[in-house]
Amino acid sequence: MRTRPAAITRPLPLVLALSFGIGLIGTARASDAPAPDGQKLYETKCSACHGKDGVAKKMAEGSANLNDPAWQKATTQESIATTILKGKSEKKTKMPPNEGKLTTAEINAIAAYVKTLGK
Ligand code: HEC
Repeated sequence: MRTRPAAITRPLPLVLALSFGIGLIGTARASDAPAPDGQKLYETKCSACHGKDGVAKKMAEGSANLNDPAWQKATTQESIATTILKGKSEKKTKMPPNEGKLTTAEINAIAAYVKTLGK
């Protein structure tokens, strides 16, 4: 088969285009990676201690309720992001740091979601 080598060296994008259609290629580029889902991350990484609704459970004793309007008013997304990154251990119960465990984008997405709690 003389035509086979040419088919194999055909550029990958063309093969993908033929397989999935041009439209899908457009949404699947690595540079367009979807933003992290703050709510989903909060529910998996934070809600065990802080509750799905932001009301502190036993493991977050000493923490404000994250849906408390007064706390929300006094707190910025940036300060929440710092707490997520560095953790907090002023009280008897400690919040673990997430340095090296979550990306900056993930931390910012969670902090933004926390700012929506109680609204
Ligand atoms: C193991 C339990 C635990 C986990 C998991 C946890 N926290 Fe905490 N968090 C705490 C505790 C305990 C405190 C209070 C620490 C202190 O004040 O010394 C706290 C404090 C906080 C505060 C500061 C509240 C205040 O009183 O000002 C924020 C904001 C917060 N956590 C957000 C988060 C987010 C967002 C996540 C998920 C990425 C998370 N926490 C995961 C236990 C936890």
